[in-house]
Amino acid sequence: MKQKEIVVSGIRSTGDLHLGNYLGAIHNYKQMQDDFNCYFFVADLHSLTTHPDPKDLKKSVFKVVAENIASGINPEKACLYVQSDVPEISELYLLLNMLAYKGELEKVPTFKDKVRQHPENVNAGLLTYPVLMAADILIHKATKVPVGKDQDQHLEMARNFANRFNHRYGECFPEPYPYRSSENTVRVMSLDGNGKMSKSENQNATIFLSDSDEEIMKKIKRAKTDSGPTEENMVKPDYIENLFSLMEVVSSPEVYHKFNADYNACTIRYGDFKNQLAEDMMAFIAPIRNKASELQKDEDKIHQILRRGAEQARENARKTIEEAKRLVGLYYK
Ligand code: TRP
Repeated sequence: MKQKEIVVSGIRSTGDLHLGNYLGAIHNYKQMQDDFNCYFFVADLHSLTTHPDPKDLKKSVFKVVAENIASGINPEKACLYVQSDVPEISELYLLLNMLAYKGELEKVPTFKDKVRQHPENVNAGLLTYPVLMAADILIHKATKVPVGKDQDQHLEMARNFANRFNHRYGECFPEPYPYRSSENTVRVMSLDGNGKMSKSENQNATIFLSDSDEEIMKKIKRAKTDSGPTEENMVKPDYIENLFSLMEVVSSPEVYHKFNADYNACTIRYGDFKNQLAEDMMAFIAPIRNKASELQKDEDKIHQILRRGAEQARENARKTIEEAKRLVGLYYK
């Protein structure tokens, strides 16, 4: 049997999941866990670069785990774990740090952004963020990494570190590449029409997976519209197009086609349109929200899932780190 390709993806532990994450990333994870050998982990070590309050870590990690499972990650199919539970990652990070140069790390755009935003906290962990990310991926010898475009530079560095290691010490790591399944990825815009839906920008224009029915209704009612189409079959402005693409996801095809036809005939009433969208959105989010909150209450269950995930991940990670150390010469038997 042909070995399945290996996928690794890191989930940020800070902030709450929103509809953009769901339709962009997690939706793809669901498909991938059937097709590939998947390792999904919560990147809690990466979050330490900004010194989160120690009291908050557990809650945010458990929440993101519960929300991802409720959204469709199946821990029976994919290996789901917390990064800090797999110390082999940190060990590989140390080895790779010897092959990462200060100059190249300083040039990374995400690093430069962070320096600009937080000049008072430019720590070495921030500088070597791409090295830790490379270790996350290379520890499982993954070849596919489902990430957004903003992570492409980090992946290019992971390939560089892999190649540098292989040249210096002997073949160990395959090259990881970004993986984007183009179908069924919906790019969700913020409901105020300003850029991508995001957890940090305008929270009133972002639908979180934990939002109550009332919050969903309120946010959709406030979504940006205009005074309506002025001629038949006109091209929709992007903020209207966005609401329609959300409707395409959460409503039935009949409902979507009805409102689309109304738009094209200039008879659409945005009040009715938004009411329908809000109703269908509430029905779409409710099962995810309820499953996540049920699971979050069941700490034993989450512990059990994460323990199993870490065992599985470590079993694989141990092989890689032993091989890497041996190649480096850290082998004194
Ligand atoms: N840097 C990624 C992000 O900001 C998260 C991440 C950490 C990651 N390690 C990873 C993603 C490894 C893919 C593979 O979203």
